[in-house]
Amino acid sequence: MTFEADSETSTDLEWSVTRNPAPRSAKERAEILGNPGFGKFFTDHMVGLTWSISGGWQQPRVQPYGPISLEPSAAVLHYGQEIFEGMKAYRHEDGSIWTFRPEANAGRMQRSARRLALPELPLEYFVDSLRQLIAVDRDWVPSAPETSLYLRPYMFATESFLGVRPAEKVAYYVIGSPAGAYFHGGVAPVSIWLSTNFARAGKGGTGAAKTGGNYASSLVAQAEATENGCAQVMFLDSAEGKYLEELGGMNIVLVYHDGTVVTPKSDSILEGITRDSVLDLARDRGHKVEVRQVTIDEWREGAASGDIVEVFACGTAAVITPIAQLKAAEFTIGKADAPAGELTMALRKELTDIQYGRAEDRHGWLTRLDA
Ligand code: PLP
Ligand code: COI
Repeated sequence: MTFEADSETSTDLEWSVTRNPAPRSAKERAEILGNPGFGKFFTDHMVGLTWSISGGWQQPRVQPYGPISLEPSAAVLHYGQEIFEGMKAYRHEDGSIWTFRPEANAGRMQRSARRLALPELPLEYFVDSLRQLIAVDRDWVPSAPETSLYLRPYMFATESFLGVRPAEKVAYYVIGSPAGAYFHGGVAPVSIWLSTNFARAGKGGTGAAKTGGNYASSLVAQAEATENGCAQVMFLDSAEGKYLEELGGMNIVLVYHDGTVVTPKSDSILEGITRDSVLDLARDRGHKVEVRQVTIDEWREGAASGDIVEVFACGTAAVITPIAQLKAAEFTIGKADAPAGELTMALRKELTDIQYGRAEDRHGWLTRLDA
């Protein structure tokens, strides 16, 4: 199979490169890559750009991974003006390094930026920043099955000012973190907790943006999930507490007995790129796909009657993770030891086969990062 490098995203940015004078040794790196977990270890470098209202995007640089110096009055520390993205670099069997639909992440970051009154990073700068990190830290992209280098682009308000208005100085960085499975049990089906005390987002709020505040506000609900033996929390709509929205860090998809694949429609959830891709793969297989409102009662009744046969979570970190059970204060749907669904696992295999270059990239989703 041959893949074409994407030439549309080359830029005129001239990156300065400062090598880390004390990178981890090959032995240390191998130990980390052998058991990376999720989000615990970081590569030797990071990539940065700064922005100011007068100068635009400037100072493109690759620098050693390390602490960032901020004024104590930096706006992000007070008003949370911050956005981020999550994506992965995958090593193919021939050693080449690829990422999945970066233009979709770049576009979502621009939408998040608009919502948080931050500057929009051009698509080509976004993709270039990923390439720059891979150019210096390519050895950090693991090759064991199911592993990848998680890439975390993020942007925040650095201006020293306590007035409440969009900051006029901003920083953008990309860091890389070798990743295995997000959940402790790997691909094993998880239990999730239904939050009825807390909402994630509301009409006109920031639910559709990937901004730190959404995750900060999910933490007490996530802690409640953990106390109840669940791996993730699920939120309902805030207005009626009736419609499924999403999990703290992933989208949700339900599979019906007749093969229909359904996922919640809402203006206040994150438009997942994994979800969008999975829906395409389901359509390709001839499944009917519906993006529509789904009530919690529909799930309860559908699971009891056998009309809903599989449920899964999906996202960059979670990939596709089967959901065995939903626990709520007053009721439970499914059983903790329920096996993974057949379509769930088939879609998971198909998606990861494309990402790791084992299957044809028929939708043109992959972009090469190391060439
Ligand atoms: N929903 C939330 C709240 C998330 O944090 C994520 C992860 O990024 C997703 C959904 C899934 O999005 P994606 O598939 O683009 O990673
Ligand atoms: C991602 O999947 O990229 C996220 O940002 C979700 C988070 C749970 C790590």
